[in-house]
Amino acid sequence: MNILILGSGGREYSIGLAISKEDEKHNITFCPGNGATNLIGNNINITDYNKLAIWAKDNKIDLTIVGPEAPLVDGVVDIFKEYDLTIFGPSAAAAQLEGSKVYMKNILKKYNIPTAAFIETSSQLQADDFIDAQNTLPIVVKADGLCAGKGVIIATSKDQAKQTVDEMLSGKAFGDAGKKVIVEEFLDGYELSMFAICDGRDFVLLPAAQDHKRVGDGDTGPNTGGMGAYAPTPLVNDEIYTKVKEKIIKPTLKGMQEENAPYEGVLFIGLMIVDNEPIVLEYNVRFGDPECEELMPLIDSSVYDMFYYGAKGELDKIDVKIKDKVAVGVVCASKNYPYSSSAPAEIKIDKEKLSKLNGHISYAGVSRNKDKLMATGGRVLVCVGMGDDVRSARDEAYKIVECVSFEGKKYRKDIAYQAI
Ligand code: AMP
Ligand code: GLY
Repeated sequence: MNILILGSGGREYSIGLAISKEDEKHNITFCPGNGATNLIGNNINITDYNKLAIWAKDNKIDLTIVGPEAPLVDGVVDIFKEYDLTIFGPSAAAAQLEGSKVYMKNILKKYNIPTAAFIETSSQLQADDFIDAQNTLPIVVKADGLCAGKGVIIATSKDQAKQTVDEMLSGKAFGDAGKKVIVEEFLDGYELSMFAICDGRDFVLLPAAQDHKRVGDGDTGPNTGGMGAYAPTPLVNDEIYTKVKEKIIKPTLKGMQEENAPYEGVLFIGLMIVDNEPIVLEYNVRFGDPECEELMPLIDSSVYDMFYYGAKGELDKIDVKIKDKVAVGVVCASKNYPYSSSAPAEIKIDKEKLSKLNGHISYAGVSRNKDKLMATGGRVLVCVGMGDDVRSARDEAYKIVECVSFEGKKYRKDIAYQAI
């Protein structure tokens, strides 16, 4: 099959790797890809989605998979469908679940899906009234639009909450993305992520994962895109999975049908579990990164089929099987991440040692300089260890980390601590 994958990160690499392992005849193209995806397939760089759709037509692409949220919010799925191409991901209308927190919260409210009590407003006075009426601290303030993961402030005083609202509404903090805000109650529980493959009507729920957003051990320092993740997490029991399916995913899919924006693609459910009840913190319309890197190797049936039948609205035709294994992913990032960029550094891999370990590397912030693989900053790669339990998978992941060297390599040493 001819497959096109949009994106350049470890997430897209891991999807490509999983599909390429299924059948060596698969022909995979990444747009734009990175310095390692061209070892799985080819890279192209076409930024105009109409031109890309024409390229996909000309090259007889059977399936396109979209990694990041930006092309989805910008309507790449709608454009590809106009060209009669098969593409896995939500329409621009459905991608508003991530593109606008106000849209998302209103869908949750309208269809009675559990979420933190909130108001949506563009008025400082209304926000202040809501803040004054809160009996507990902290208070959470969120900018409406996409802010590269920085649009959520946990305010520890009412004054700070009001000031944050002011900075957002005035456009000072996030420009137009903050012209509307959500102010909501703080939920105290444990956080995890679930991912549902959706075809508009049906869904397949993948194992629950836990990400590690802070840069430092013990969850210290600033937020990042994610420094490591593991799945499945033993913190989730069957009762929680059932509640997520019945109280969250089913009403969301039904609601999105009623909104004339049926949800096709990955629904990333950011959850807080409070007293054994799953409560939605947020939706994203794509896989998490690095969660995807752990989920792909856990799938025992065809990954290509999962995306293809998802895109066709025919998930009921397949049975997605999950391995009885655990995957732990440890991100190796560049020296200055997440503060500033870092100078490119050559990556050396001890391939012989790596070949004896149970797991693999998913490449993200890398480029190629002749035959050298270079770390180009940010999150460089993810070392994914597999095992029968969290402990053994984590031990493999850290042995893979030892096979990797580049100047300034940094990583967290406590990934999956919640489960050990
Ligand atoms: P979001 O982008 O909405 O997921 O928010 C980013 C992070 O802020 C989440 O991953 C949580 O750690 C935290 N957060 C967001 N909303 C709340 C809330 N209502 N209560 C507690 N923590 C929250
Ligand atoms: N790892 C969290 C995210 O992708 O948003």
